[in-house]
Amino acid sequence: MATVKVKASTEYEVLVEEGLLDRVGTLARKLLPGKAAALITEERVNALYGDRVEQNLAEAGFTVFRLVLPEGEQTKCLACLGEVLEFLASHKLTRTDAVFALGGGVIGDLAGFASAIYLRGIRFVQIPTTLLAAVDSSVGGKTAVDLEGGKNLAGAFHQPAAVYCDPLVLKTLSPEIFSDGCAEVIKYAVLKGEPLLSMLESPKEADWTAIITQCVSIKRDMVEEDEFDIGVRMFLNLGHTVGHAIEKRSAFALSHGKCVAMGMVIAAKLSVKLGLCGEALVRETVKLLEAYGLPTESPYGGDVLLDTMLSDKKRAGDTLRLILPRGMGDCVLYPVDVKDLPDLFAQII
Ligand code: GLY
Repeated sequence: MATVKVKASTEYEVLVEEGLLDRVGTLARKLLPGKAAALITEERVNALYGDRVEQNLAEAGFTVFRLVLPEGEQTKCLACLGEVLEFLASHKLTRTDAVFALGGGVIGDLAGFASAIYLRGIRFVQIPTTLLAAVDSSVGGKTAVDLEGGKNLAGAFHQPAAVYCDPLVLKTLSPEIFSDGCAEVIKYAVLKGEPLLSMLESPKEADWTAIITQCVSIKRDMVEEDEFDIGVRMFLNLGHTVGHAIEKRSAFALSHGKCVAMGMVIAAKLSVKLGLCGEALVRETVKLLEAYGLPTESPYGGDVLLDTMLSDKKRAGDTLRLILPRGMGDCVLYPVDVKDLPDLFAQII
């Protein structure tokens, strides 16, 4: 079993092993003192793994209360947050009890946020069932719901008590959801280079346990250095500033991973224009993304994207802090004057 220890405001382990879904009860039992376990999941994941995880928790001595929510981003909302909180209260969960988030990023973020504020904070365990959640959202303690005004606008930093990742769950993902997660994996490869780049060389032979563990280790280092996202953790936004704009512009018809993929290519093209790297990096990025079934061309022009981007929450005054690659494994935080952006964008999209 691969173990990544995270030392943030609380310490916890991320365990990655095939078949781990059948051990979550015994593992959690050693960690958590309480009797009750609220299992929060969504319809698709529930049909696949809900009974199995509930039984496993029950066999380890937990009294399990399961809440099944609709699948999809619309579940990451204030109304569903209220539903989770009322569910926890109706089953009288106490501060020694715990929440188990079984699902992708939506369930992890929502159940995590509910755990952050219910009784002013109870423990929660992340059991990610998508690649994106395994390599990114389940680790690092960012929890949130969306508001009318945008994604993740209400949330809290609340680290999980543990993350149990079973890479066998990847086998039940649609190719689309799977390649969504690949975009985040490739993001880590562009940020940190080797050994991840070599691990991604042959998609058909990829060792996903090793890849997930490597991505989590990279994220762990960033979270330990900058838990509250004011420094090095911002590098995880590579491809996201432009990616979010594409996502928003498509009214979320284009998935997060696809948009991040296009955002990474635009970041590489911006780097070329700013003299940070040569064209070869754009070709290398495109090749890697295409190998994992991801799109590399934005359907929207630069002027349209700029409009949306300039309302991004990561903007500081008249500058936009972009994460730009100088080479594989070598990225920089590059403040760009907003007034220079129209001309720059006109040259690349
Ligand atoms: N998903 C980016 C972060 O956790 O900071």
